Amino acid sequence: MVERDYPRIITPLPGPKAKAIIERDQAWTSTCYIKEYPLAIARGSGMMVEDVDGNRFLDFMAGIAVSSTGYGHPRVVAAVKEAADRFLHICGSDFYFEGMATLAERLARVAPGTSRKRVFLTNSGTEAVEGAIKLARYVTGRTGIIAFKGAFHGRTTGALSLTSSKRVQRAGFGPLLPDVHHVAYGNCYRCEFGKTFPDCELFCVRRIEDDLFSRHLHPTDVAAIFVEPIMGEGGYVVPPPGWLSAVRELCTRHGILLVADEVQSGVGRTGKMFAVEHEGVEPDILLSAKGLASGMPLGAIISREDITTWPTGAHGSTFGGNPLCCAAALATLDLVEQGLAENAARMGEQLLEGVKRLAERHKVIGDIRGRGLMIGVEFVEDRTTRQPNTDLVKRLVQQAFREGLLLLGAGPNSLRLAPPLVVDDYDVDTALTMIDRLLGERRPS
Ligand SMILES: Cc1ncc(COP(=O)(O)O)c(C=O)c1O
Repeated sequence: MVERDYPRIITPLPGPKAKAIIERDQAWTSTCYIKEYPLAIARGSGMMVEDVDGNRFLDFMAGIAVSSTGYGHPRVVAAVKEAADRFLHICGSDFYFEGMATLAERLARVAPGTSRKRVFLTNSGTEAVEGAIKLARYVTGRTGIIAFKGAFHGRTTGALSLTSSKRVQRAGFGPLLPDVHHVAYGNCYRCEFGKTFPDCELFCVRRIEDDLFSRHLHPTDVAAIFVEPIMGEGGYVVPPPGWLSAVRELCTRHGILLVADEVQSGVGRTGKMFAVEHEGVEPDILLSAKGLASGMPLGAIISREDITTWPTGAHGSTFGGNPLCCAAALATLDLVEQGLAENAARMGEQLLEGVKRLAERHKVIGDIRGRGLMIGVEFVEDRTTRQPNTDLVKRLVQQAFREGLLLLGAGPNSLRLAPPLVVDDYDVDTALTMIDRLLGERRPS
C-alpha cells in the first residue's frame, strides 16, 4: 500500500492565511452560518482536502455527504468544463437542452420500482422537499403532512415545517406550515415507547394508526408521509428491517403518498443507488440532491407518472437543472453505476467492522449503525443508562480536525462517517486509527 501525503498538518490551525479569510468572513457573512471548524479550503482531490496554508486533511464528511466522487473527479470536472464551454444557462423550466432531457430520463429509469416516473430538477434538497409538498397536496387534494421526530428536510419554510432535528433551526420562524404532524421514527436504540425490536412488532408504525389516526387526524386528510429511509442530520439512524415497508403499507392503505427524502442517503451512498432499495420499497415520490452532482447544486423530484398531474406553469425554477449541474450529475451517475456504489458497500462494511472493533475498547460507544458509507456512531456516558455524551462528539470532531481528519457530528451525540464514495482501505484504516487514538487520549469529561 502506497503511503499518502495526507493527513499532513504543517501549521497551527487555523494557519495565517486561513485566519485572514476567517476574519474577513466573520466580518461580512450573515450571523446564521455554523462553521464547524476553522477549515479554509484551497483545493481538494479524491479524499484529500488542502487548506490555504498547505495543511492536508483526510475527509470523512464529504462536504456534508455531498462530494460523492471526491473533491473534483476528473470525469466530473471534464463534463462541467465541456458544458461550460457551450452555454452557462438557458432556464430549463422554459426551454429545452439535451442534458436536462437526458438526466430526467436517466433518473426516471434508475429510480426504484416498476412504475414510470417523471422528474423535476431543483437547485437544492430543500427545494426538492418544497416541490414535493406542493405536488403531494395538489394531486391528493389533501393538506396533512406527516413527518418524523428528529427528521431534517431543509430550511425553507415548507421544508422547515417538516424538520424536527434541532430547535434552533425552527426557533423564531413560526408560524410554519399548518397541518404537519410529527411521529416517532424507527429508532430502536432510543425507542420512544420503551419497546424492543422485534418483539415490538413495529409498535411505532402501528401507533400512527392507533393513536394519531384514531384521535387526532383522519387519514383521508393526509397528503403524504415524508421519510428519510436512513435518518441523516438527526443522528444517522437506521430503522429496523420491515419498518419502511410497514410505512409504505400504511400509506397505500390510506391513499397517502410516500415521499422518500433521499437527499442524503441517495446516489450510491448506502451501497445501492437509493436506500429504499435495501427494503424493496417504491416510494411515490423520491427526492435527491447532495451527492447527485458531486457538489454542483442540483436536486431532483422523481415522481410516479400517474401522480405527476400538475399542469404547465404550476411549478418552475429559474436555475433548477442548470446545464453544468446536469452534466456533473450524468458523470456522477456513470461513476456511481460503474463501481462507486459497490465500493461504498464494500468499504462501508470494512468501516463498520472497524468501528465495532473500536467499541470493544471504548465503552463510550453506545451504538453503531449504518449502511454503506452512511455510518452513525452514538456516544454515551454509560452503556447501561445510554445517557447521551454530547461533549465527547464535539471534542472528537475538533481534535480530529487539529490532527488532519475531517469529521462531523449528527444529532445530539452521534458521529457521522460519510466519506466520499472513492474511499479505499488505506483511508479507512487511517481514519479508524486516528479515531481510536483520539478516543484513547480523551480527557475525562
Ligand atoms: C435528508 C435531507 N433532506 C433535505 C436536506 C436539505 O438539503 P439542502 O441543504 O440542499 O437544502 C438535507 C440537508 O442536509 C437532508 O439531509
